[in-house]
Amino acid sequence: MEDSSKKHLSRRGFLKYAATVGTALAVTPAWDKLQAANQAVSGSSASVKERGNGLPHRILGTGKAAFEVSALGFGVMGMTYNRSQHPDKKQCIRLLHEAMDRGVTLFDTAIIYGPLNNEELAGEALGEFRGKVNVTTKFGHEVIDGRATGRQDSHPATIRRYCEESLKRLRTDVIPMFYQHRFDSHTPVEDVAGTIQDLMKEGKVLHWGMCEVNADTIRKAHAVCPLTAIQSEYHLMHRDVETNGVLDVCRELGIGFVPYSPMNRGFLGGDLNEYTQFDPDNDNRNTLPRFTPEAMRANYRIVNVLQRFGRERGMTSAQLALGWLLQKASWIVPIPGTTKLSHLEENLRALDFSLTSEEWTELEHLVSAIPVMGSRYNAEQQRQVQ
Ligand SMILES: NC(=O)c1ccc[n+]([C@@H]2O[C@H](COP(=O)([O-])OP(=O)(O)OC[C@H]3O[C@@H](n4cnc5c(N)ncnc54)[C@H](OP(=O)(O)O)[C@@H]3O)[C@@H](O)[C@H]2O)c1
Repeated sequence: MEDSSKKHLSRRGFLKYAATVGTALAVTPAWDKLQAANQAVSGSSASVKERGNGLPHRILGTGKAAFEVSALGFGVMGMTYNRSQHPDKKQCIRLLHEAMDRGVTLFDTAIIYGPLNNEELAGEALGEFRGKVNVTTKFGHEVIDGRATGRQDSHPATIRRYCEESLKRLRTDVIPMFYQHRFDSHTPVEDVAGTIQDLMKEGKVLHWGMCEVNADTIRKAHAVCPLTAIQSEYHLMHRDVETNGVLDVCRELGIGFVPYSPMNRGFLGGDLNEYTQFDPDNDNRNTLPRFTPEAMRANYRIVNVLQRFGRERGMTSAQLALGWLLQKASWIVPIPGTTKLSHLEENLRALDFSLTSEEWTELEHLVSAIPVMGSRYNAEQQRQVQ
């Protein structure tokens, strides 16, 4: 016990050192800083690709848009927003450091989460490790005086302002990946892509991505400024991206894919059921048709299938949900969220199992045989996705 905590502490000290080295190289371009920090820790960028700091790595995007990250990321959102229990800040920071110590290099937040306090948390916890770990964030949902208006604003001047504000909250000088959170029907996608390209030239943004957009929008955006990743909902209970052309266009253009809510907002982990009470003031699951007591009772049959399937293999339902996404393509990097060390460890262990393709197909068939009750979003939320 003592040994392992010492090991973690010393590794964190080492990461701090690497980050300091990266910061000191202020005259080199940001990408060089990232590489320098990686090499300071691992000895060579090639070995980072194989194992990183204890986790395998994957590459999102190709060519100049390539972005190397741990094969599983960490969704920070639920620590302050939409997931009911929010531990105190110290606990959250400790858990984010535990994730980093275990080799997670991709952390996901957004301006709208909180709003603002999720970016602030990520900045406070991870800002000093910039250049070593990556905190990706998202613009698009309008926030005025710290409040969400419910509108979209991806006007070029707004993107620029949000970028400056996010840099401050994240305590960094470059955003490793900046996503458009939702399509803005008032701003041509070419203008959004062009603005991001300018921010890249200015060294403020390294990579970019888009959330919940269709294949046509992806093509238009990618033609102006190559995309690194698309982030959309994808898990065993919501597989639209397999049939609506999104995964096909990512494969064709060499764009990575980041499935959000990879355990269907925790449901596939098995801890939620028809009796679960969500915080009415801070949990959007209250508003989702798939999370009514009736829907959860009906859909729990899917969790039961995962639990039975996993029992023979020593896997939990959460590990199967994440493993199923990971085996779909080498350019897919799920970003599960948690507030608990036990869940973090369980989720990262999903990377240690290897099932045959026949086993994954069998699981898919078992799950597909059960109809999912309730749509994923209510009408208003559905209106915001393409
Ligand atoms: N781009 C977008 O529009 C968008 C939308 C939604 C989310 N996201 C991103 O995706 C990330 C993850 O999404 P999410 O939080 O909606 O969904 P998720 O990762 O599918 O589920 C998170 C929930 O699962 C629980 N959980 C985690 N590990 C578990 C385990 N092993 N067993 C049982 N329960 C477990 C967590 O509770 P505990 O705290 O108890 O572990 C948490 O409430 C977010 O943090 C955010 O960064 C993006």
